[in-house]
Amino acid sequence: MDVKTLILGAGAAGMMTAAHAGPGVLVVDHAKAPGEKIRISGGGRCNFTNMYCEPQNYLGENKHFHKSALSRYTQWDFIELVGQHGIAWHEKTLGQLFCDDKATQIVSMLLAEMDKAGADLWLQTSVLEVAHRDGHFVTRMSREGREVTVTSDALVLATGGKSIPKMGATGLAYDIARQFGHEVTETRPGLVPFTFDKGRFSALSGTAVNTRISNDKAGFEEAMLFTHRGLSGPAILQISSYWREGEEVVIDLLPQTNLAEILRTKRRTEGKRALTTELGHHLPSRVVEHLSETFDFKGNLGDLSDSRIDDLCTFLGAWALKPTGTEGYRTAEVTLGGISTEGLSAKTMESKHIPGLHVVGEAADVTGWLGGYNFQWAWSSGWAAGQAI
Ligand code: FDA
Repeated sequence: MDVKTLILGAGAAGMMTAAHAGPGVLVVDHAKAPGEKIRISGGGRCNFTNMYCEPQNYLGENKHFHKSALSRYTQWDFIELVGQHGIAWHEKTLGQLFCDDKATQIVSMLLAEMDKAGADLWLQTSVLEVAHRDGHFVTRMSREGREVTVTSDALVLATGGKSIPKMGATGLAYDIARQFGHEVTETRPGLVPFTFDKGRFSALSGTAVNTRISNDKAGFEEAMLFTHRGLSGPAILQISSYWREGEEVVIDLLPQTNLAEILRTKRRTEGKRALTTELGHHLPSRVVEHLSETFDFKGNLGDLSDSRIDDLCTFLGAWALKPTGTEGYRTAEVTLGGISTEGLSAKTMESKHIPGLHVVGEAADVTGWLGGYNFQWAWSSGWAAGQAI
């Protein structure tokens, strides 16, 4: 069978490419349904973009590669598309836009756009082999127990990264890219919870604190959640993408509170109040109890010397922790690294040495922050490839 364009992967980027690549497009996926990650994203409401999307919200070896696609198909273009399909949305926080109703509306919207463009979709289809002969791609696949060979002028790698293998994530795009002489940068889990020695925070499990978490590469002020296995929540997921095994992260447990000033005032006005009682007004008492294993909170506010206040504020403002690891691809929202962007055109997402081969979405070495940035990359890169095909 001959098609103009074969797209491997019916996820966010693959469907977006199909919607813009014109007629003669076949999209294949080994899953039972398209856009499964969209369906489960954002707690079932899909954080489909971010109003404040900027190039600095992305990681990758080439700091400039993603700029072109993101500036040509912006968050506002996607918001307009969502509006055209009558999908109601709201901003949750920090510019993060979610569906009012459910994430499957985004999947239905993309399927409708694909339909409009005349694209076909084959599900439960696995790729056996890809070859490149006489300027054409020859892809051998298995569908409904039968082998099918599809010849195409263009081949789009849109099978995403390795995150959540249980949902069908594979390294197929990386394997095919390597086969065609492309480099794949080191891949590792991103936007992922930290693990600590067993039981370290289990007494605090379920407690959330607003924090500023940082290392020498980045800093984020968002909620942090104690879990049975370690630390999670948006602040942790964000910094995890900038963290390497063996490194420390520094946590300011009271980023919005001038604790030193409060304690200096209250040691005069409420000197008989216990320090732990005062701290309990600013932090969950279970957290104060946990920290008292490391820092001596005994005594009343009236007993505090200036230097003890300084030590206490330094301790709570720069709580240094060294995670033992992360929860890995099992729960990571994204894969850091991927097909090196050095071998791709930033304008068309096309291979620089294999005409017709394109890489879109998470398979490429472009990773966004938490907050709708990864879907925006899928939309922008898919659009850029679709325009060029
Ligand atoms: P995606 O993973 O979406 O699609 C790849 C497709 O390829 C899948 O359909 C898969 O079945 C198929 N495939 C893989 N291997 C194959 C093979 N060997 N053969 C055939 N088909 C194959 N981002 C965001 O911006 N906002 C959010 O709210 C969230 N929330 C979120 C929650 C959770 C739990 C996860 C895991 C991730 C998110 N993300 C997110 C990240 C976002 O889901 C991700 O970045 C995009 O889905 C990437 O889009 P792609 O199309 O590149 O890959």
